[in-house]
Amino acid sequence: MLIKKKKSWHIPASEITPEHLFLSRRQFMQGAAALSLSALLAACGGSKAAETAPVGRAPATNADMTPGVVAETMDELGDKLTSYNDIITYNNYYEFSTDKQAVSRLAAGYLTSPWQVEVGGLVNKPGVYDVDDLKSLFDQEERIYRLRCVEAWSMVIPWIGFPMSQLLELVEPKAEAKYLRFETVYDPDNMPGQKSRWYTWPYVEGLRLDEAMNDLAIFATGLYGKDLLPQNGSPIRVVVPWKYGFKSIKSIVKIELVAQQPTSLWMAAAPNEYGFYANVNPEVNHPRWSQATERRIGELSRRPTLKFNGYEEQVAHLYADMDLRRNY
Ligand code: MTE
Repeated sequence: MLIKKKKSWHIPASEITPEHLFLSRRQFMQGAAALSLSALLAACGGSKAAETAPVGRAPATNADMTPGVVAETMDELGDKLTSYNDIITYNNYYEFSTDKQAVSRLAAGYLTSPWQVEVGGLVNKPGVYDVDDLKSLFDQEERIYRLRCVEAWSMVIPWIGFPMSQLLELVEPKAEAKYLRFETVYDPDNMPGQKSRWYTWPYVEGLRLDEAMNDLAIFATGLYGKDLLPQNGSPIRVVVPWKYGFKSIKSIVKIELVAQQPTSLWMAAAPNEYGFYANVNPEVNHPRWSQATERRIGELSRRPTLKFNGYEEQVAHLYADMDLRRNY
């Protein structure tokens, strides 16, 4: 069920989504899942569906460019939502292309259902979860978050998803577990960018366990009232809005609880430029550009970047004993 909860960072301007709206959204999502499953079965010549991702490619069709229903039209700061069209056509997804405007075309038809996520490592209850099951296990909430890319552009996105803490509570991290390590699907046959040798594929990201337990951290399965499209990390991705966008890893197939800090793709590719924490910080410039301001997609003028992307109250305590000016 899609629910809208009052959150400390979001003073709701409108009512809770009427039941008929979230019911019809749920029905839409179930319908969409059934459709993509039948597309996969057709692509496999009617044979039994593959049990794990990667799941291949269907003939590209014109994606439905119309947004679904949202409960709110602005974030808690009064900033309006970025248009659905911008969110689904201006993307960073290096597995498909380094050209933001080419990603949606190259990702069109990428099959992401069925899809399983393995959760293991230092947990008492490891498991392999079907994304459809995760969506019914946990209430799907709308979360309107700012996304601030390290490249100094930003958007306001109405995600649908569930708190990371809920899945973590289910698998019961052991006392030695200190970090999470996430992995995107590795599928070079269908993801042309993964043939590039500049990066150590698959894309890897990580969080400290207490960061992942923070209520702001979610696994997103949709946006603008609809299932995620491939270019946005379908069928499930991380969203951590107080960090630069590259921490919000897309299309995950593996979550591992580990004792040591994981090395992310960007830490491996450019250790002088990217650290593990990557918290949005206007006072610390990227080695090659300023982080003091940003361009909101759909607007012309620049605006000041907010510390922790405007979520200081919710997350600053996580870093109380750290020097945020160092390359964390
Ligand atoms: N995840 C994977 N697997 N591959 C990527 O290239 N790009 C990151 C992040 N997650 C990326 C990824 C970056 S740099 C950003 S800014 C966001 O995804 C962009 O998300 P969006 O395209 O949905 O706006």
